[in-house]
Amino acid sequence: MMRAVVADGTGGPEVLKVIWRPVPQPKDGEILVKVGVAGVNRPDVAQRQGGYPPPPGAPDILGLEIAGEVVAAGSGATRFSIGTPVMALVPGGGYADYAVAHESNALPVPQGLSLEEAGAIPETYFTVWTNVFDRGRLQSGETLLVHGGTSGIGTTAIQLAKAFGATVIATAGSPEKCEACLRLGADVAVNYRTQDFVAAVKEATGGRGADVILDMVGGDYISRNYEAAAQDGRIVQIAFLGGGKAEVDFRRLMVKRLTHTGSTLRPRSAAEKAAIARSLESRVWPLLAEGRCRPVMDSAFALEDVAQAHARMDGGEHIGKIVLRL
Ligand SMILES: NC(=O)c1ccc[n+]([C@@H]2O[C@H](COP(=O)([O-])OP(=O)(O)OC[C@H]3O[C@@H](n4cnc5c(N)ncnc54)[C@H](OP(=O)(O)O)[C@@H]3O)[C@@H](O)[C@H]2O)c1
Repeated sequence: MMRAVVADGTGGPEVLKVIWRPVPQPKDGEILVKVGVAGVNRPDVAQRQGGYPPPPGAPDILGLEIAGEVVAAGSGATRFSIGTPVMALVPGGGYADYAVAHESNALPVPQGLSLEEAGAIPETYFTVWTNVFDRGRLQSGETLLVHGGTSGIGTTAIQLAKAFGATVIATAGSPEKCEACLRLGADVAVNYRTQDFVAAVKEATGGRGADVILDMVGGDYISRNYEAAAQDGRIVQIAFLGGGKAEVDFRRLMVKRLTHTGSTLRPRSAAEKAAIARSLESRVWPLLAEGRCRPVMDSAFALEDVAQAHARMDGGEHIGKIVLRL
């Protein structure tokens, strides 16, 4: 048996319960990981609140990313030997002593990275790669506008975009958060509570606008993103924290030849996630090993204190990643 966290109903952090469950068994192509660290992500909050149920076949145990040691392998899972430290994207089940991952969705822990840092990587790195670089096609020399610059996603996007030669403009909700964005390498940080991000983007780009926009806000940001985008700009939607409905003048989309797209990671097949993992391993893992990008660690909590970890995320004062220690 193992400890695992489930939501007993929907609501605030108090619905999270540590219970006992049987240790899962790896199937064909899967590995069993003794979890050392599980990352906490806003989609976990959305699941707790009842707005993001696990996809069919995924465990009801919360948690989308883990780092730990391989302790067993199903048939056909031959890449990692027993005892290897790995990090993995999982469709659920991360907040537990043991979790099953598809071997192709697991990656080695680069040298120099702690297990705590490794557990804070998969969900945001997979998401940023597939949205900013695959869908958004961000190129060296282009400008990325990233909203929520100090979120787990935002801190990852700033570092990766800079590492690949882009100019980065980040938005955040306080002077302290803007400072953090600049420390991470953002060229410009916009406090959206006191500044109009559209005007700031225009000013920073000599009137051109941003080539790629990574947006988790939606709502009235949709038409403002159209204003802030450059000709042939790509806008990638990964969440709608500010609402999924908006009144938009779509003429701007046509006139600027914009592409407005979006995606969610969790329901995608293991094979699709494996393709993202392969790109990350060849393009980004060398950067992690060289220390050119690093997860920004906000705080770590014991599994029993999972409600406190979620309360910290609900409070919105965190900068970077919150993790659970198993
Ligand atoms: N589509 C996908 O595949 C995918 C995958 C992973 C995550 N996501 C989404 O990406 C977003 C970031 O995830 P994360 O784990 O990095 O979250 P996080 O660290 O909790 O960051 C969320 C940030 O969004 C900003 N924000 C702006 N408007 C907000 C609002 N109305 N309510 C709450 N926060 C607001 C907050 O910063 P300020 O104080 O600066 O406003 C906050 O720091 C989440 O919405 C998550 O669901 C999508």
